[in-house]
Amino acid sequence: MTAALDGIDLADPDNFVDGVPFEWFRRLRQEAPVAWHPEPGPNAGFWAVTRYDDLVAVHIDWATYSSEVGAVSLEELDPEQLEIRRSMLETDPPRHTKLRSICAKRFSARGVSQYRDWIRDVAREVLDAALVDDDPFDFVGSISRELPIRFLCSMFTVPQEDAPQLISWGDKMIANQDHELSAAVIDKVDTEEYRLFPFRSPVARDVFAYADAQADQRREEPSDDVIQALVTAQGEGLLNEREFHNYFSLLMIAGNETTRHTISAGMLALMANPDQLRLLQEEPERIPLAVEEILRWATPVLHFRRTATRDVELRGETIHAGDKVVTWYISANRDEEVFDDPDGFDVTRKPNDHVTFGPGGPHFCLGAHLARLEAAILFEELLPRMRSIELAGPTERIRSNFVNGIKRMPVRIVTR
Ligand code: HEM
Repeated sequence: MTAALDGIDLADPDNFVDGVPFEWFRRLRQEAPVAWHPEPGPNAGFWAVTRYDDLVAVHIDWATYSSEVGAVSLEELDPEQLEIRRSMLETDPPRHTKLRSICAKRFSARGVSQYRDWIRDVAREVLDAALVDDDPFDFVGSISRELPIRFLCSMFTVPQEDAPQLISWGDKMIANQDHELSAAVIDKVDTEEYRLFPFRSPVARDVFAYADAQADQRREEPSDDVIQALVTAQGEGLLNEREFHNYFSLLMIAGNETTRHTISAGMLALMANPDQLRLLQEEPERIPLAVEEILRWATPVLHFRRTATRDVELRGETIHAGDKVVTWYISANRDEEVFDDPDGFDVTRKPNDHVTFGPGGPHFCLGAHLARLEAAILFEELLPRMRSIELAGPTERIRSNFVNGIKRMPVRIVTR
């Protein structure tokens, strides 16, 4: 069994605070691409899969590398927790296919393209509010964080005034390793009381109550939105109450955080590469392609996990039934066997087969079309307005080995 290399510790979120440890991932890809990685108890450890081809192999073979028999995060769940917290993410086909079909059409390329003008309007509103003068401001708080949640509010037809509350709940749930964002930091305080909630988060109760209130409204007066699709599925017996709660939370969180971090990371990369920023300002038709490089560069989800259902060989290593297998998208997206100059940011990169949304197994990101569209429209609206942009202070990252996110990015933007 190949052990992870000396000095490498991917299990400790502190090691991701100052930046992604890209050098560790490079060493793992080259010297131990499928490596057994220890973890602090009660967790048992995991296989770290760091090469692109191996990540694809794991995600495509869902029968061997299951999402259903264990969790999809590093946290180890007992059968009760697993059952109660299960969402579509923790389900294999054929059940998964049924759950996904509840919303799949709404998130298809055609489904989201009907929102194109709407997204542009929201983007303009957000930028009008943020770019009032040339004073420094927090790009994350005023721009990246605003667009995705405001748009989700539209898609879910919930009041725009609820956006700050939804942002705060999402932050607390997903950034459950960061002291500033969550009181219940999973590896530091006793979260036993919350063991049956998604992300072991106390705010899940509030999110569920919010979802129930929205569902009640739709039962009285049906509407044509995502929540209605979930309520209808519940009425048809396709979702029970718990599954309805978990589905709602998944969509709210997955659609909010990740797109935010993509926009922030993209702006940071463009600031660091002014020639590429200029290119996009001069030739905005290049922006949709540039978004693919921004997505590769940002990789907002660092890893997901599967659990082996049988003994299996992967790159010469024997993985045993029940082992945790953790696929690091962040590493696959910099695999030198797939990407030329993988550590270079190049908005003209083509082809760009990044795995930021997953490599295309059953769990390929449901919101990929939406996230691409939101990021492209945001940059299409923002870049022409900027005469210059510069950092006005240090950026701060979320403490997490799961999300790759910037929590603050002070900038000064001079508009045209
Ligand atoms: C840049 C933004 C986003 C990134 C980086 C991202 C990333 C991911 C990743 C890595 C997965 C798992 C893929 C796999 O297992 O192979 C996933 C699944 C998922 N994403 Fe996204 N996501 C983003 C935006 C969104 C948006 C806007 C939504 C919509 C509300 C969304 C909803 C989901 C859902 C529901 C799943 C689970 C799909 C399933 O289990 O079948 N995501 N996402």
